[in-house]
Amino acid sequence: MQKGLFITFEGADGCGKTTQLNLLKNYLEAEGFDVLVTREPGAKGLGEKVREILLNYDGEVSDRCESFLFLADRAQHIDIIVNPAIKKGKIVLCDRHTDSTVAYQGYGRGLNIEQINMLNNLATNGRKPDLTFVFDVDIETSMSRVGNQKDRMESAGKEFFNRVRQGYLEIAKKDPQRVKILDATKTIEEVFNDLKLIFNETLSR
Ligand code: TYD
Repeated sequence: MQKGLFITFEGADGCGKTTQLNLLKNYLEAEGFDVLVTREPGAKGLGEKVREILLNYDGEVSDRCESFLFLADRAQHIDIIVNPAIKKGKIVLCDRHTDSTVAYQGYGRGLNIEQINMLNNLATNGRKPDLTFVFDVDIETSMSRVGNQKDRMESAGKEFFNRVRQGYLEIAKKDPQRVKILDATKTIEEVFNDLKLIFNETLSR
């Protein structure tokens, strides 16, 4: 049986990570791997309800409450979806995970990073991604990709976006073995080629 793998896709809104995730899925499936595509917040079941609140609730949401909602979604996701799939030997490709909470609620909203790391650890029960891609873009590229239909998180403004972006760069600096930065201003094909190189390098380790 193939060994299970957990790979996460991260970056600020409009970085193109979902496109790349789907390209990797097609590539791996063509190679005969068993792949599961999933996301946070809101994979399926209860998670979809949490996602609805997080992205569409139009009343006031405290920063700490927002963090706990993302974390609650994560705990459910890891226990019910991710861990069972890894156990079955699947390659799990996950659109956003723990680093989003560090980047958005930590660096973006200004909550304590150490505490978020601790809470993330609690939510995942210690499960860590084998590999994480961070798709790095500038705000102009990001906004042109997001367009005018912004959700609650995407409406947080330019300063917020820049803090999130810097946050991701810091995360990668602290954990270079796991977290790889890709220049996501390149074309889709170029970014995917860069990604494949890193992916194959990691697989052969
Ligand atoms: P989504 O529509 O999935 O955006 P994207 O396609 O960019 O992934 O919305 C998820 C939003 O939630 C996105 O703005 C990032 C934010 N988020 C956090 O703030 N903290 C988190 O822990 C997670 C998982 C997401």
